[in-house]
Amino acid sequence: MTEKRIVCVTGASGYIGSWLVKRLLERGYHVRAAVRDPGNERKVKNLLELPNASAHLSLWKADLTEESSYDDAVQGCHGVFHVATPMELLYHDEPAENEDIESTTVNGILSIMRSCTKAKTVKRFIYTSSTGTVIMQRQPPLHEYTEELWSDLDFCNETKMFAWTYVVAKTTAEKAAWKYAEENGINMVTIHPSLVLGQSVTLQRSFSTDAATALYTQDEANIALLKKLHNSSAVHVDDVCNAHIYLFEHPLAKGRYICSTHIFDIFEIGRSLSHKYPDKNIPTEFEGLEESPKIIPCSSKKLIGLGFEFAHKNKDVGDLCAETIEWCRVKGLL
Ligand SMILES: NC(=O)c1ccc[n+]([C@@H]2O[C@H](COP(=O)([O-])OP(=O)(O)OC[C@H]3O[C@@H](n4cnc5c(N)ncnc54)[C@H](OP(=O)(O)O)[C@@H]3O)[C@@H](O)[C@H]2O)c1
Repeated sequence: MTEKRIVCVTGASGYIGSWLVKRLLERGYHVRAAVRDPGNERKVKNLLELPNASAHLSLWKADLTEESSYDDAVQGCHGVFHVATPMELLYHDEPAENEDIESTTVNGILSIMRSCTKAKTVKRFIYTSSTGTVIMQRQPPLHEYTEELWSDLDFCNETKMFAWTYVVAKTTAEKAAWKYAEENGINMVTIHPSLVLGQSVTLQRSFSTDAATALYTQDEANIALLKKLHNSSAVHVDDVCNAHIYLFEHPLAKGRYICSTHIFDIFEIGRSLSHKYPDKNIPTEFEGLEESPKIIPCSSKKLIGLGFEFAHKNKDVGDLCAETIEWCRVKGLL
């Protein structure tokens, strides 16, 4: 690589963001990690200790709730990876702080895109969306979920299914972002991971770690969460982050890309983890849940068609959870 390539990652202290920073540094990028509190040692220590960080990583203070907050971090960047989202929404059944959905998620992404417009240096804007913006359908497809689908927000508002406020926020934000991109000539590509599993860099717990470690810790609230995720889809964090970089670098990347490889089957996870941790009495039966009902997968064909290869697709979903558990154990997060 001859040219100095500078990119900004929002949500860099989070579960996905921190692993993305690690992979970008390994590829020789100069990374501007945008975090809310660069002085919070617990949130940034592991980023600063990454290989190549001393010469290629800088921390920038920015917040989605403040207009123009990302201007400085984005100025001079060739790429922006917008990963940050308030994930608390996933734990709410009711939108107690409904105004946050609009102000933080929607205005947040538009504010960062305005920073890109002002900078005039950004060649591509990669947004970490979610399969949540695709799969909430009144009439699900027969065979698979694809990028042409948008979650039905009327259906979400009527049924108030699990994580519906998060789905509404992410879908509304993504639609607003596509409109802004079209009107202002921003080269945007969106990536749609399903539930992300595996080890990371951050020293914070997250939605992913709560889900992946639930059967191991047997935390009641997290098992309840896990049961709601039964038969959804999942993917390894390393595949997700490599796909972000692939979509940033590929000249023909365009539009939305689902990134998903596994079925998140709680029975399979229970059996796999009970073999790995025989002394832990991991549950393998789950009242009220059906084993092997009809599953509609999220299709990553578009991403694979662009040439991306999933390195972790052949692991079983229990292995993905076990990787998260081992990392959490080593880092003292359990
Ligand atoms: N994890 C999954 O299974 C999954 C699946 C599909 C899509 N996604 C998407 O992936 C992205 C990252 O998720 P994650 O699992 O890595 O979550 P995470 O670990 O909770 O990280 C979220 C990040 O967002 C930042 N953030 C929250 N509110 C902010 C604000 N007001 N201003 C600036 N930053 C703010 C947090 O910063 P602080 O460190 O300062 O708190 C944190 O770094 C999200 O956009 C999510 O929708 C995640």
